Formats: sequence, structure tokens, C-alpha cells
Amino acid sequence: NEVEGETSSLVEAHTAIEEAAAVLASGGTVAFPTETVYGLGADASNTEAVERIFSAKGRPSDNPLIVHIADMVQLEGLVTEVNETQRRLMEAFWPGPLTLVLPAMPGAVSSRVTAGLSTVAVRMPAHDVALQLISAAGCPVAAPSANRSGRPSPTLASHVGEDLAGLIDGIVDGGPTGVGVESTVVEVSQDGTVTVLRPGGITAEQLARVVAGGVKLDLALQSSGEAQPGSPAPRSPGMKYTHYAPRGAMRIVKGAAPEAVAAHIQAALDAAAARGETTGLLAFDEHLSLYHAETMLSLGSLDSLETAAHRLYAALRRLDEDGVTFIMAEACPEEGLGAAIMNRLLKAAGHNVIDV
Ligand code: TXA
Ligand code: MG
Repeated sequence: NEVEGETSSLVEAHTAIEEAAAVLASGGTVAFPTETVYGLGADASNTEAVERIFSAKGRPSDNPLIVHIADMVQLEGLVTEVNETQRRLMEAFWPGPLTLVLPAMPGAVSSRVTAGLSTVAVRMPAHDVALQLISAAGCPVAAPSANRSGRPSPTLASHVGEDLAGLIDGIVDGGPTGVGVESTVVEVSQDGTVTVLRPGGITAEQLARVVAGGVKLDLALQSSGEAQPGSPAPRSPGMKYTHYAPRGAMRIVKGAAPEAVAAHIQAALDAAAARGETTGLLAFDEHLSLYHAETMLSLGSLDSLETAAHRLYAALRRLDEDGVTFIMAEACPEEGLGAAIMNRLLKAAGHNVIDV
């Protein structure tokens, strides 16, 4: 009973949403588009339904899920309290790619969703299909990204099909997602300080503009983008898992001088090609002409990191499709969306990064 959205006809698209909502309401799993990546949804209050998400994804059960809502009435049923800073963030960025970790109303969602924590992560996606689907289902929808655990998040319905066909009850096709990387996950402390647990579609700079108490990065994320041995455990449990890793060995090169970066990358590609590797490159438009590799993928211009975020996961999937065994990637500045992009690139490369 796969629900294939026909976006060519508004009427059919509407039917697909209604059908998908009925599947959710009856305990099934449906993948749907959001402005960030495709999510795999289930009724957040239904433990059996939520368990289907974990088994379809092969996701570790200690990694809690984000609950998606369509309106503020749904929020009231999920949390015990919203403080002033949290309220301001919701007003500024919802609907949108910001997830807030809030005190959970006991019993409102399955403990499988929160992984037993006393908090629940909530967001209101900025995507009409997602909002209509959640409204029509009539329940908050738990939804992690709709990929097999360890694969890049899906930014097209076809990516969901590649990973989860036969394992889920439906896919609503809404075309390519916009942002391309996941939502920013934040926690707000008593004193109003905002801590970014996972960098994403809303930048730290954007957050800082609307809150008084300051914005900091979860210590466990600092410098490397991921927990290091001996560093504090990340408070967003998902951050400790390796994600997005393409099958090929991948290295990121950063440096102040583009010529030095390019020279290092090309030398490594040439050496890899000479020993029989299938080579791949992820680079920005400004430098693309400096390289040759078997698969050359542009992340767009360094002046438009939105393009890099939008293209990143499809590019990582493409490297696997092309059978690339050795990948070199350019770094980007970790400002704005660059923080989320570098976080995902570093994970993809298993933190294999060199500063030249
Ligand atoms: O953009 C997104 O956020 C996408 C789309 C589908 O909405 N969803 C997504 O979900 O990325 P997922 O499950 O792949 O990531 C959820 C993240 C994980 O890092 C998880 O550890 C964290 O949110 N998280 C969930 N509940 C939490 C909680 N109570 N406290 C701290 N972190 C939490
Ligand atoms: Mg995910």
C-alpha cells in the first residue's frame, strides 16, 4: 500500500496526503518531505508504530526522535513548560528548521520517542505537505530522517526508496527538499543560554540575533564537530553515532591558501588514481577547474553555502553510486550554514581532516 504522491495534480497530491495521514493514524510508517530532509513518520504516542521506525531504519534505540507538530495547540499537549527564550525562538523560527529540547509532558509520547529522557525534542516544519499531513493525521508525528541508519539523509523521495523500500508503509513525494541538512537542535538553560546540540538549518548567528542570553555550541561538538575521546558526552544522543559515511575513504583538506589546498588535494587524487583507486572530489565552484578526478561534484559557490547544504547528501550518495573508493573534499568556513555543512562533512570523513 505504497502512497506515491502525484505532485503533478493538486487533487491527487491531496489524496496522497489524506491516504498517508490515515496510515499514520492507524499505526503505520510514512516518509514525507520537510524543508530540511525527508522524515520517516509515525504516531508519536503509539509505541508499536514508533518501534517500526527504529526497525525500518536499523536505528539504535537510545537515540531519541524529533516530534513534529503542525500548530501550537499540539505543542501544549507535549510539554510542561515553555520559557520566554524558547517562546522567542519559536516565534522567530517556526515553522522552520529549528528543534527545541523541552520538558516532556509525562505520558504524552511513547518513551521510545524520548529514549526514556525527561525531555522531548519538538519542531514545526516549514513545508506545506508536512504540515497538512500532521494536521490530517491528528497526532504529533515522531520522525527521524528517512534513511537507513548510517546512510546520508534523503533529500529526494527516490533516496527514501533506495534505503527503505519494503520496510515502510508509504512515501509522500514532495520533490527535492529545500535546506538539505537537518534542523538545528537547541537546548535552553535556566539562565536563558541557548546551547546548540546539533548545527543545522538555522545558524548560530540567526539564533544570537533573537535571544538575549547568548548562544554556545555543545562542548562535545567543539573543534571537531563530534565527540572526542575524553570530551563530555554529547547531550544530543544522536551526535555520538557515525553518520553519512560514504563507502570510499574520504579526507577533507582545509587551509587559508586555496592554491595550497588544491595542490594537496590533486596530489592525493593523482596518487590514488595511480594505485588503481576510483577517485571522487567534492569542491566549490571557485576551484573546480584546478582539479581532475573521475567523479567531480560541485557544492556550488563559496558565496552561497545554501547551495552546498542543498547538494551535500545527494553528492555523498552519488559517490557511492559511482563506486568511488577514494574521496577528497574541500572544507568551507564554519560560519553561518558552514557550521552544519562542516559538521556533516567531518562525519562523512570520519574526522579525517588535514590543515595545509
Ligand atoms: O531536520 C530534521 O530535524 C529531520 C527532519 C525529518 O525533521 N529530522 C531529524 O531527526 O534529523 P533525527 O532523528 O535524525 O535527529 C534527531 C536528533 C538526534 O541528534 C537526537 O539525538 C536529537 O535530535 N534529540 C532528540 N530528542 C532529544 C532530546 N530529548 N534531547 C536531546 N537531543 C535529542
Ligand atoms: Mg538522521
